[in-house]
Amino acid sequence: MKKALITGITGQDGGYLAEFLLGKGYQVHGIVRRVALEAPEYRLVRIKSILDKIQLHAASLESYPSIFKVIQNIKPDECYHLAAQSFVSYSFEDEFSTFNTNINGTHFVLSAIKEIVPECRFYFAGSSEMFGQAEEIPQNELTRFHPRSVYGISKVAGYELTRNYRESYGLKTSIGILFNHESPRRGYEFVTRKISSSVARIKQGLSDKLVLGNLDAKRDWGYAPEYVQAMWLMLQNDEPGEFVIATGETYSVQEFVKEAFAVVDLDWKDYVHTDPQYYRPAEVNILCGDASKAKKILGWEPRTSFRELVRIMVESDLKALNP
Ligand code: NAP
Ligand code: GDD
Repeated sequence: MKKALITGITGQDGGYLAEFLLGKGYQVHGIVRRVALEAPEYRLVRIKSILDKIQLHAASLESYPSIFKVIQNIKPDECYHLAAQSFVSYSFEDEFSTFNTNINGTHFVLSAIKEIVPECRFYFAGSSEMFGQAEEIPQNELTRFHPRSVYGISKVAGYELTRNYRESYGLKTSIGILFNHESPRRGYEFVTRKISSSVARIKQGLSDKLVLGNLDAKRDWGYAPEYVQAMWLMLQNDEPGEFVIATGETYSVQEFVKEAFAVVDLDWKDYVHTDPQYYRPAEVNILCGDASKAKKILGWEPRTSFRELVRIMVESDLKALNP
């Protein structure tokens, strides 16, 4: 039985990936912060339904010895390094901890793998935020990086570390350059979930407005359960490498808002306001990915349309209010 280790197993992608790997017959291990084990009803909510099928290990991304110990105990065949401070806005507020978690954390995992299980296949969660102020549309694996946030810079550093461990030490490391992917399990601080949960509350008469920042920013939004399959496919490929995972379509925040209110037959203009507090010091104006390499080499393609994604999220939030 193959053993997989997932860092960030409590996050949106971690939960979907754990479920997917269980379905493939893997023994699934996850690294969590100690506080998560102390407050499982709150911090393990996304993996509640599979807790009896996976093994959790307390470790800190800030501590090399703790990561080393877990990897030594498990000796995984595949490692999916998803843990990160992933909220771009927060990275403007706390640059230093974002760097510590995202850069040192990645370095610790890579270094421990090199020492203990150099044959382990490693996945790094790269991001379309690395393209930032992109020079070309759509963006592919060759597009130059121009990050616009400390988060984006930290992901470029993680990308370079991961590539360098492959080139220097022969580790089988792959990098997913994933564009935004969403789901009913998305954190409430991200714009899509903020919108879908607010639309549900407004529809139920529990709220009467939604305050957002930049409505003009455009993103390439896909459906998260499909994106974790791409992570696995990357590690099944004998040739490690970099892969863009995206839908190839881009929509503005305003278009997402309009579509979400339309699901409940309301006009967004009656409820949506903007506030400069939600604008970022430097914005990524447009992201749109070209995933043709993933299609050709991995056979991966997105299946859920933008409209379907918005509907899935709004209907799930409505159901949560009206079980
Ligand atoms: P998420 O829901 O924010 O989950 C982040 C995970 O990282 C959580 O399990 C969190 O644990 C863990 N984590 C954060 N800081 C940590 C620390 N200091 N020590 C240990 N664990 C820590 O993110 P996601 O959407 O699943 O994304 C997964 C990965 O893909 C991230 O690296 C993200 O940057 C990257 N990515 C995401 C997208 C996207 O659109 N979702 C696109 C491109 C790349 P707690 O639960 O304990 O906080
Ligand atoms: N969060 C948030 N809240 N964003 C808002 C708001 C608001 O009230 N109003 C407008 N936006 C705009 C942001 O300025 C940004 O342009 C866009 O909505 C998307 O913001 P987020 O949902 O926070 O996601 P992100 O694109 O910054 O980052 C996500 O995708 C990256 C991949 O491109 C995260 O998942 C990152 O971890 C990931 O790497």
